[in-house]
Amino acid sequence: MATSVWLITITLLFAVSAPVNACPPSDRAALLAFKAALHEPYLGIFNSWTGNDCCNKWYGVTCDTITKRVADINLRGESEDPIFQKTHRPGYMTGSISPAICKLERLSSIIIADWKGISGIIPPCISSLPFLRILDLIGNQISGEIPSDIGKLNRLTVLNLADNKLTGRIPRSLADLSSLKHLDLRNNFISGTIPQNFGKLRMMSRALLSGNRIYGPIPETISYIYRLSDLDLSLNRLTGPIPESLGKMAVLGTLNLDGNMLTGKLPATLINSRISILNLSRNAIEGNIPDVFGPRSYFMMIDLSYNKLKGSIPKSISSASYIGHLDLSHNHLCGAIPAATWFDHLEASSFMYNDCLCGKPLKACS
Ligand SMILES: *[C@@H]1O[C@H](CO)[C@@H](O)[C@H](O)[C@H]1NC(C)=O
Repeated sequence: MATSVWLITITLLFAVSAPVNACPPSDRAALLAFKAALHEPYLGIFNSWTGNDCCNKWYGVTCDTITKRVADINLRGESEDPIFQKTHRPGYMTGSISPAICKLERLSSIIIADWKGISGIIPPCISSLPFLRILDLIGNQISGEIPSDIGKLNRLTVLNLADNKLTGRIPRSLADLSSLKHLDLRNNFISGTIPQNFGKLRMMSRALLSGNRIYGPIPETISYIYRLSDLDLSLNRLTGPIPESLGKMAVLGTLNLDGNMLTGKLPATLINSRISILNLSRNAIEGNIPDVFGPRSYFMMIDLSYNKLKGSIPKSISSASYIGHLDLSHNHLCGAIPAATWFDHLEASSFMYNDCLCGKPLKACS
């Protein structure tokens, strides 16, 4: 009994007297090492990184209010912040991301975005930051590979590495990111295949892999990601057929597979799905357009141009509830273009360069 009273008293005394109002010197030292590896010539954002308390008005740094550990690094090169208005130019920064950042073991977000000139690699030790939720390095010159054990970040919800110079493959462990909602790897030099286990990413709603060198088939397992609403695999080197199961996904609304080397037929499931933006342009899709349009077909945009589609435009297309933009050009279609109310706004270019299409808006059939 007496011991526990003492324990409580000691704990209270400690809580009151501990210097919890400033950032720990180790966090401050890590931030200064991080700053030392970067060079920001125009705005002077790092001028505010002085004094002992890194939680107090250091530009882009936020600390946990209770522990005073650094929780967020938020440095955006394009922002509405007044500091940008003085110079009338977007941010520019060179240098690299120091591994010292990994000493900030309470970090929950790292946003170092749109600085255009930051190069070097993603420090592999980043995958040992257990509280990391957001890693956003979009719009720099970062090279090297995605850390192979990235999958250890089990709280990560946003991984945005778009518009950089990353090479190598999508690591297998990426599929272990069980909280991941938003994956953006667009416009890098990533090669290799989409990992077979990709379908394990059950929380993911946006997967954007466009503009890389990814080859091989689209894994069927992608269709297990039942929250997926936006899938962009365009401008890669994917081969093989389009999995039919993509058209049966509960919330998939945007499917961009354009600019690959996909073959096989156009799955009928895609025509009668939740998908409202469908770009399959510039592939090698063959066979007929399935005659399964119906009231469930609602397309803001459907682009099937530059494929090997043949036969006629299916009659059922007039029963689609809406088609905003349609492009069937550069195929081998033939026969009369069906009449439909929403065809009135379509131009001839939507149907040009086929074998023998005719009727409005092309020349009348003879
Ligand atoms: C579909 O993809 C092609 C090829 O990448 C692109 O040129 C075209 O603009 C896209 N279509 C629409 C309507 O955005």
